[in-house]
Amino acid sequence: MGDPGARDVPDPASRRARTPDGARRNTKMAEANGPGRYETLMEVMRERRSIRRFQPRPVPRALALKALEAARCASSGANIQPWEFLLIDEERGVRHIAEILTRERKYIVARDPRFPPLGRAFHKDVPLYILILGDTRLKGAFPQTTDLVVDITLYASLAMATCQLHLAIEALGLGTYFHTPEEPTERELKAWLGIPAPMTIFSIAPVGFPRVRRTSARRPLEEMVHWNAYDLARYRSDAEVTALLRRRVIAIAMSGRWPQAMEEVAAASGRGRPSR
Ligand SMILES: Cc1cc2nc3c(=O)[nH]c(=O)nc-3n(C[C@H](O)[C@H](O)[C@H](O)COP(=O)(O)O)c2cc1C
Repeated sequence: MGDPGARDVPDPASRRARTPDGARRNTKMAEANGPGRYETLMEVMRERRSIRRFQPRPVPRALALKALEAARCASSGANIQPWEFLLIDEERGVRHIAEILTRERKYIVARDPRFPPLGRAFHKDVPLYILILGDTRLKGAFPQTTDLVVDITLYASLAMATCQLHLAIEALGLGTYFHTPEEPTERELKAWLGIPAPMTIFSIAPVGFPRVRRTSARRPLEEMVHWNAYDLARYRSDAEVTALLRRRVIAIAMSGRWPQAMEEVAAASGRGRPSR
């Protein structure tokens, strides 16, 4: 979506490039911005894992604010920046949120047994919760006509901020995971924390120094890339998708063993071998 408030500001690098000296500097900048920067970014992205167990020590507020600075820089539809952040690091508050999320998890597991049962340490040592809030009134900034696209624009903007927050948390030696609050959780938290009605709790980030680092795996790139037109050879059959959604496969994939999960999918969907 476009940014109605944006002005065209000349890129200082391209202005410098008009002079021979500037051109040299520009080449240097391009080199500095090249592979090294990409590798640093990739290292953080590759190593980031959802962290759900934490060391029992506080997160310095300065570190939390550094991570939030990354979230603040995120892009958003119409540059409306619909996010705000609510941090809870006082013991009473932290314990109350852990209790609410434990209740929520019991309810989710009872409803859908594909999700792993509650460990005894669930939310036991979380020193800090960051609530990523979104101001739904700002949907008015988006010119799209369908509610769906307007919603996507708002929630995708909040996801961009959350993503940058999570990467910064990883880069700072901390850990977190993306907690999606259920509706009753959101209602309870909003009432308890005095959050105004139009503000939605988009996601919750429990933050701390990691105690346990899980593994997780990803689909290979070649399975998901299409050049110039959709390649039907890469289109997953309904049988594969049904097999993928089975409880056992989800449990294997969540435990970080993606290739084994794909073996199961291939067997269950009648291919007899991994599809790719
Ligand atoms: C949109 C979104 C919602 C998620 N919701 C939850 C959640 O409610 N509870 C949870 O434990 N993990 C949640 N996760 C974390 C995923 O389970 C996790 O990212 C995935 O299993 C891959 O593991 P990794 O992050 O360690 O690579 C969510 C992740 C995303 C991106």
